[in-house]
Amino acid sequence: MNTKELEKSEFAIGQLAFNDATLSASGKVSCASCHSPSAGFSAPNALAFQPGGKYLEAHGLRASQPLGYLVYNTAFHWDEKGTPTGGFFWDGRANSLAEQAMGPLLGEREMANPDKSSVVQKISQSQWADLFKKTYGANILNDVDAAFLKLTQAVETFQKNSPLLNAFSSKYDAYLRGEIQLEAAEARGLALFNDEEKGNCASCHPSDKDKKGRHPLFTDFTYDNLGVPRNLEIIENNNPKYFDLGLCDKPDLKERKDLCGAFKVPTLRNAGVRQVYFHNGKFKSLKDALTFYVQRDTHPEKWYPKDAKGKVLKFDDLPVALHSNVNVKEVPYQKKKGEQPTLNDQEIDDVIAFIHTLTDGWKDQTRR
Ligand code: HEC
Ligand code: HEC
Repeated sequence: MNTKELEKSEFAIGQLAFNDATLSASGKVSCASCHSPSAGFSAPNALAFQPGGKYLEAHGLRASQPLGYLVYNTAFHWDEKGTPTGGFFWDGRANSLAEQAMGPLLGEREMANPDKSSVVQKISQSQWADLFKKTYGANILNDVDAAFLKLTQAVETFQKNSPLLNAFSSKYDAYLRGEIQLEAAEARGLALFNDEEKGNCASCHPSDKDKKGRHPLFTDFTYDNLGVPRNLEIIENNNPKYFDLGLCDKPDLKERKDLCGAFKVPTLRNAGVRQVYFHNGKFKSLKDALTFYVQRDTHPEKWYPKDAKGKVLKFDDLPVALHSNVNVKEVPYQKKKGEQPTLNDQEIDDVIAFIHTLTDGWKDQTRR
């Protein structure tokens, strides 16, 4: 095979593997089960975690992440200002898409294969075993480490090159190309999204073309601590001693207590077709997610539980000693209790109308 043919085969293998539930111990779970094309390659439903494990009995700890546009992500690093940037997973612990793919294939809460050799055995029984051998050599399946590595690289090649995952085919992309205008509500939403005194959303979810004219990704792949309320749907969260600490759970950042509670900024592309939001799946609609953003500090009683004396337990998903990590300085989180939220109800609806322009596969109804 020449390089082009090899790339094509590798893409095909990656795509087949991504959709193949026979790669899991249960025989029922594929990557696509938790990363559905109908939902921006994230959770196909409103569950905080998706069933996994050998008997689909396992409880996941976090919500499925959206997989679009990750070809533009990098390994974890500190940018020139010292900001934690890049990495895969909500806490950045994998350095590439291939490394990431090992997680679910071998994870007991996901596809639950006990070891690499059981994955390679499943490849040899798959419908694409011949293509795998043709692509990587007749004896590839005899070398467990090499075959497993090739599988993860193929899954990476699929994610990086799939036109579905990296489409730039939303209404907003057509608008940026100068082909169409936005509706009035969408245009108001965009202005609020960008306004540093109002939504200030673009400071973490960039919305402009970059210097080279590339369309925005609506994530800068950095991390932030939003103080998202605890979600008891995540079974472990019923143990009061358990906390998902995000970025400081990354093995080399255990000492960086200041980073505890920070999670990676997700892209807002295709957020309009997701049914569950944030790392713990706490919110099930954009309306709730955005109202939380602007009312977290003005109306904390709406979002957090109360103790026996009626005191609101703000930031209840972090140990008290770490509450000071929550971002309370930037717009839209800088308000105090009782103040007016930075966005009112109508403005929230406008921002939501704008977020819906970020859904890929948009077709201009006015053209033929
Ligand atoms: C049982 C559900 C489940 C299955 C199966 C699953 N994932 Fe995921 N995926 C998740 C969850 C949950 C996360 C976030 C986990 C975390 O942060 O610890 C995630 C995160 C990811 C990420 C990181 C995205 C980012 O922005 O950093 C990628 C890439 C990914 N999955 C790809 C895959 C691939 C490829 C497969 C198949 C080999 C797969 N997933 C199988 C649930 C699943
Ligand atoms: C300071 C950085 C920052 C700002 C400003 C910001 N976000 Fe976010 N956004 C994040 C981070 C980090 C997450 C993930 C947090 C988590 O899961 O704990 C997130 C998550 C989201 C999600 C959930 C997406 C998903 O798939 O789970 C939505 C929707 C969202 N932001 C919209 C907005 C809007 C609209 C604004 C402006 C009103 C905004 N964000 C302002 C950092 C930011």
